[in-house]
Amino acid sequence: MTTAGEIMLDFFNDSKRHTEVKLTASECDYATWPTHRKMLSDEIRCTRFREALLRVVPRGGTVLDVGAGTGILSIFAAQAGARKVYAVEETLMALEARELVARNGLAGRIEVLHSPIEDLVSSEKVDVIVSEWLGGFAIDENMLPPVLLARDRWLKSGGAMIPNRVDVWMAPCFLPGFEEKRRFWLGKPYGVDMALVAERMYHELFYEQHDLSPEHLMSEAAVLWTIDVLSETVERSRKPFKAESIFIARKRGEINGLAAWFSADLGGGVLISTDPASPANHWGRVFLPLTRPLTVQQGNTISVNMACHPLGPLATRSKWTVMVKRIRSTD
Ligand SMILES: C[S@@+](CC[C@H](N)C(=O)[O-])C[C@H]1O[C@@H](n2cnc3c(N)ncnc32)[C@H](O)[C@@H]1O
Repeated sequence: MTTAGEIMLDFFNDSKRHTEVKLTASECDYATWPTHRKMLSDEIRCTRFREALLRVVPRGGTVLDVGAGTGILSIFAAQAGARKVYAVEETLMALEARELVARNGLAGRIEVLHSPIEDLVSSEKVDVIVSEWLGGFAIDENMLPPVLLARDRWLKSGGAMIPNRVDVWMAPCFLPGFEEKRRFWLGKPYGVDMALVAERMYHELFYEQHDLSPEHLMSEAAVLWTIDVLSETVERSRKPFKAESIFIARKRGEINGLAAWFSADLGGGVLISTDPASPANHWGRVFLPLTRPLTVQQGNTISVNMACHPLGPLATRSKWTVMVKRIRSTD
């Protein structure tokens, strides 16, 4: 017998889900044009970085572009009035960058260096370091450590980083269409038992989920990690990023995964966000699936453990666990 208003916290073991996934550089090949064309076609990404460079780079200043790719950000820096830009790119895309720079008449001001940033030998410190090191949820490409290494070696005291702050966000969600895809593989397509294909889906990060919108989120979003790009240490950035977050279900329904995205302050008042309410961009939103949908009631607590482990250059492994605690009134 319980008294009126008493509540019982009910912990369901079977609602505990654990998933793990690995991302490697081979999944986005920075030596190829299709990857770069996709980034160059993202007008929001390009115009926001351009605007930030126009506002942050001092006239006649010096800039280091870490992971220059096609050299687009270096060209923006030159447009902003930089006297000298060092565009450092480790893949053969550096040769294409050199040509793009020359065709824009900027070979005298932009020096393209075909090298990993770690091996760069240069004597000049710079006013600004720009780098688009952001993965679907920012840290998942493990490109932050070389950027911070460059900052420690080449940024003048009082210099600027673009971006200067990055927040990684998450919220439990129900992504429509995902269960249909999963059911397809469970339904013996072509008369073949393909349950394995469905099982593997639990261990994948689904990038570019452009259909994910605010109404699919089952709670308020929370920041998992904030990266202050001026003060974060290289040592810290090389360690696993781990977070524990509690979300409160804002309505009754189902969750079938977690949505993740980032927001970044590029400086000069220029922001960029890939949140579900923002316009489409090449990153989309990242979806981290559960092994099966979980029912939640309004007010239920959804506990999430999330970890992103660095594996090496441009490679990480992510793990996530979701638990639902149901609040049950017993009167
Ligand atoms: C997300 S892309 C951005 C390319 C270009 N800055 C842009 O905005 O279009 C990241 C680039 O950084 C390069 N990169 C990654 N790690 C690097 C390193 N340690 N040294 C030099 N380049 C690196 C990759 O090859 C890739 O071209």
